[in-house]
Amino acid sequence: MKFSFKTFLILITYTFSGFLLLQAQETRKDYLSSDFHKGRRDLLREKLPANSVAVFFASPVRNRANDVDFVYHQDPDLFYLTGYNEPHAVLLVFKEEQKDGQGNNYNEIFFVQPRNAQAEMWTGRRLGFGGAQEKIGILSAFNNTDFKAYDIDFEKFDKILFYDFQNDVRDNARDEGDLFSLIQQFKTKVGYGVEANTLGAEPKKNNLDLTSLNTIMSEMRGIKTTEELDLIRKAVFISTVGQVEVMKAMKPGMTETEVQGIHEFVFKKYGSEYEGYPSIVGAGNNGCILHYVENAEIDIKSDKMILMDLGAEYHGYTADVTRTIPIDGKFSKEEKAIYDLVYKAQEAAIQMSKPGTTFGEIGALAKDIINKGLAELGIIPNENARHLYFPHGLSHHIGLDVHDKGPYGAMAENMVITVEPGIYIPEGSKCDPKWWGIAVRIEDDVLITKDGFELLSSFAPRKSDEIEALMKQSSPLEQFTLPALKGNK
Ligand code: GLY
Ligand code: MN
Ligand code: MN
Repeated sequence: MKFSFKTFLILITYTFSGFLLLQAQETRKDYLSSDFHKGRRDLLREKLPANSVAVFFASPVRNRANDVDFVYHQDPDLFYLTGYNEPHAVLLVFKEEQKDGQGNNYNEIFFVQPRNAQAEMWTGRRLGFGGAQEKIGILSAFNNTDFKAYDIDFEKFDKILFYDFQNDVRDNARDEGDLFSLIQQFKTKVGYGVEANTLGAEPKKNNLDLTSLNTIMSEMRGIKTTEELDLIRKAVFISTVGQVEVMKAMKPGMTETEVQGIHEFVFKKYGSEYEGYPSIVGAGNNGCILHYVENAEIDIKSDKMILMDLGAEYHGYTADVTRTIPIDGKFSKEEKAIYDLVYKAQEAAIQMSKPGTTFGEIGALAKDIINKGLAELGIIPNENARHLYFPHGLSHHIGLDVHDKGPYGAMAENMVITVEPGIYIPEGSKCDPKWWGIAVRIEDDVLITKDGFELLSSFAPRKSDEIEALMKQSSPLEQFTLPALKGNK
């Protein structure tokens, strides 16, 4: 074979970058193990109904603009079951053993992106079917381009479980194995939602189940294993260190983006790959926007509070922690009244969290305390008055998603949930203007234990006086100065 100089360069670069990536991966030892993922597939098989198959597709690649895509984020179910982090893949998990044409047994098949030196030089190393066999331990792994011809008699199953598709996947017409094609091929194979006269598929046996998978995966993902808890603890701890460092560094005149940057710098310093959701940093009235992500205020005023809701994502698992602090280090009388009321509601709900308690019960308790408190402060006319000052739910699961899958009835051991009451009084509200622009959310991450709870986010203080005390400490960032930004405006 004859190599051009260009091919030579490509191969050298490819080999070298692959080597570096491998090195980087090997320096960290605390990823989920292939045994974890295998255990999850085994548990799924236990939970599947008789004579069934569950089908999971990778998340689509999302385009940011032109030839730049958003950073890829795997479908959390597929990640949970495999640890695979690449697009254009489909996983089938069978309840019972199947036999292929050669008489070999298998109970799972995984179709993944093919290796491709040219593509890997640009966008990173691919596992390929060989890597999926070796690293993930799914022996029946193939290139995604083999899915179309792979002979599976879907009619014989009593149930084919999958999630319904969204109409938002781009077609790379040149790629027979891209997600768009995998979905079309699957629909054709099972006779789902395709016109007989356009794709040649006849509606087959009515064995398509689009609802059960969510229930099964919620039951599984809602209860964390030891390996998951290790990563969640780390993600939560990192996030609370971010809060603590910001409490020390906070100064009037900072920008919201700068505050966001301090949190995220701490996340990265610990090796947290991403944020689990877009960081929310809102000073004063901006804090009243529940998912405020512009973080655009360039001059945070000393007489305001700042609400900071951020979560580090560590090896796939995200924290979700909110602290609200006074910019000048001291809560005003009104700020403290609202802050302490939110704290009271949160503390009561946390103390009640244990196996058997329902999400509904802690939600109602927090709402009740807040309503009574708002009435006592004269912000609402009486405790039964309708209002929008606490417009969101109290609690959700966290894990691979910030709003993670999980059951929302009774709590159970090894669930990890948030407890996050808030009071938001936007400018112009129907109450004394002295309350306007006050927004407080306190959000903590709580592990449900055998007979109670463990507060995972306790490293960042929650009580108003403890926050004031911490804010008096100095920050190493006081020494960190940069040249002024010059321009025409
Ligand atoms: N950070 C989103 C939430 O608190 O649910
Ligand atoms: Mn939350
Ligand atoms: Mn949050």
